[in-house]
Amino acid sequence: MIDKYNREIDYVRISITDRCNLRCVYCMPKEGVTFLPHSAIMTYEEIVTIAECFGELGIRKIKLTGGEPLIRKDVSSLVGKLKQVNGIEKVTLTTNGIYLEEHLEALAKAGIDGINISLDTLDQNKFIELTGFDGLLKVRNSIDKALAYQSIPIKINCVPLRQFNDRNSLLSLAALAKNAKLHVRFIEIMPLGYGKNMESYSEQEILDILGSSYSELEPYIKSLGNGPGRYYNIPGFQGKIGFISAVSHEFCSSCNRVRLTSTGILKTCLQYSGGMDLKVALREGSSKEELKNIIKKAIDRKPESHVFTKDRQTIAETLEEKGMSQIGG
Ligand code: GTP
Ligand code: 5AD
Ligand code: SF4
Repeated sequence: MIDKYNREIDYVRISITDRCNLRCVYCMPKEGVTFLPHSAIMTYEEIVTIAECFGELGIRKIKLTGGEPLIRKDVSSLVGKLKQVNGIEKVTLTTNGIYLEEHLEALAKAGIDGINISLDTLDQNKFIELTGFDGLLKVRNSIDKALAYQSIPIKINCVPLRQFNDRNSLLSLAALAKNAKLHVRFIEIMPLGYGKNMESYSEQEILDILGSSYSELEPYIKSLGNGPGRYYNIPGFQGKIGFISAVSHEFCSSCNRVRLTSTGILKTCLQYSGGMDLKVALREGSSKEELKNIIKKAIDRKPESHVFTKDRQTIAETLEEKGMSQIGG
């Protein structure tokens, strides 16, 4: 599928739940949000039917997200089913890592092609303050156990918030890629949901900090996955250091992806409100041909780029007001 800005769309991020077991400060309020009733969420059967439509249209990669996807029962069975869908080549997962350890074996058996684990601090008290739970040891344990599955690429996603990190903690986070075969990506905070009023270290600041300790930092030109990450190599490191900087280094001209929320709304850009309701279409009896036409129409209207940097007044009508846990990240 090629959109009107000549971008090939071959990647869909599917959120399978809006629920999460953590309360990261940039994502959810401490008191929690009202979660959707089960009936509002797509069943696995519905997700597979929609994935079949995507596969027939040219989507090749699926990322499962949440909320926290591992909160849903038997995610590995969904992974196995999606891997069987015609056209789908890669199925990957992004998780906060708390429940990952107990799912690893089943996920590996189902053929998972990559796991991204969120980790924004290595300090136990800061982890509690940032996520609302005392889960750092569980996440670290999951990472260690995941590394034993050598065929599954592992990436760490770190949103380097200023209030929780300093120079040394950023160096420690980066050093995870020195000491183990995994990639560490620093994700610039996006002004969405509770992230609107938070500040993260910029890509340049992190490069400067890394540069002061590792003089041979060099851009790594190959891609590592399906998303917008750009990478650097540091001699002696087992993995790469990546950056996802949606605002300071906008990557929309090479955007290859659409999103399906847990409620079945097809969103063609993270930042815009609204979208096409595939779940209702499916529940009202639309055929796969009809669903494919809805998807094609939506992709035809995919916006050229986000408008994060435009002034709030101008974008008030288009701006997505949902939080990341509801959109799927
Ligand atoms: P891989 O590199 O293939 O593992 O995928 P990925 O980087 O797309 O996956 P992940 O779910 O780990 O996402 C990392 C970060 O990138 C999250 O903060 C996402 O919200 C962000 N991201 C992914 N796609 C987009 C996008 O199209 N636009 C923006 N603005 N952010 C995105
Ligand atoms: N800006 C940037 N990244 C975010 N994430 C969640 N909310 C935001 C935001 N506002 C990250 C999570 C996770 C990934 C899926 O998205 O930390 O690593
Ligand atoms: Fe694609 Fe929108 Fe993300 Fe830009 S902000 S990369 S257009 S989804």
